[in-house]
Amino acid sequence: MHIDILTLFAQIFQGMFSLGIFKRAIDQGLVSVGIHNIRDYTHDKHHSVDDYPYGGGAGMVLKPEPIFEAVESIKGESSTVPIILLTPQGRLFSQQIAQELSKYNHLILICGHYEGVDERVREHLATDEISIGDYVLSGGELAAMVVIDAVVRLLPGVLGSAASPLDDSHVAGLLEYPQYTRPAIYRGWSVPEVLLSGNHAQIADWRREQAFLRTLERRSELLDKAELSLEERRLMEKSRHS
Ligand code: 6GU
Repeated sequence: MHIDILTLFAQIFQGMFSLGIFKRAIDQGLVSVGIHNIRDYTHDKHHSVDDYPYGGGAGMVLKPEPIFEAVESIKGESSTVPIILLTPQGRLFSQQIAQELSKYNHLILICGHYEGVDERVREHLATDEISIGDYVLSGGELAAMVVIDAVVRLLPGVLGSAASPLDDSHVAGLLEYPQYTRPAIYRGWSVPEVLLSGNHAQIADWRREQAFLRTLERRSELLDKAELSLEERRLMEKSRHS
């Protein structure tokens, strides 16, 4: 997958791509990244990327021309590449959207800033708008990093073991079960006996139960979309009517 990022703060992304799974994915040729400074696509003497809002009001608005020109020069002939504007007004990002985006071989992400982005970018350039949650960040860069992280780790070969993303919280619609590693007893706190038993069927049952109970307790609304056993469904109804 190739990911192009349009930003006013290119340096923010350096750390992310020079460490850990991203560095490995790039070194292995599984992912490539282009980081483009929107300012490089301005033509005026002052390299202006923003201007006052028509109609007045506080703050500045990102101008359309450099963003259109950057996207057009990056995109080339392709007409199918998603052009994603990161904005608090976008659709709420989720594991499902991460999975959807992981199917493309090219993504273009536009990081918004200041009070906003000229509406013509949304209307005539972006093909998608994504928000990472109901709070306001000062720019789209952190949101772009969140989206990229969630997408890249789903690409084949990026995580060590092919099976591991399947166990993640949210993939089966449930939060993940508790994990333990050595030592078996730490400061008197023991690892649940079943995990030491070597009985894989029992361990799988215990993990499913823990994932279910944890989801019921912390994020009960997630259970509406999860596949539940009859017993789990009964427990959910019971907890909701108590
Ligand atoms: Cl994508 N951008 C900004 N500026 N704030 C956000 C966001 C995006 N998602 C949540 N808050």
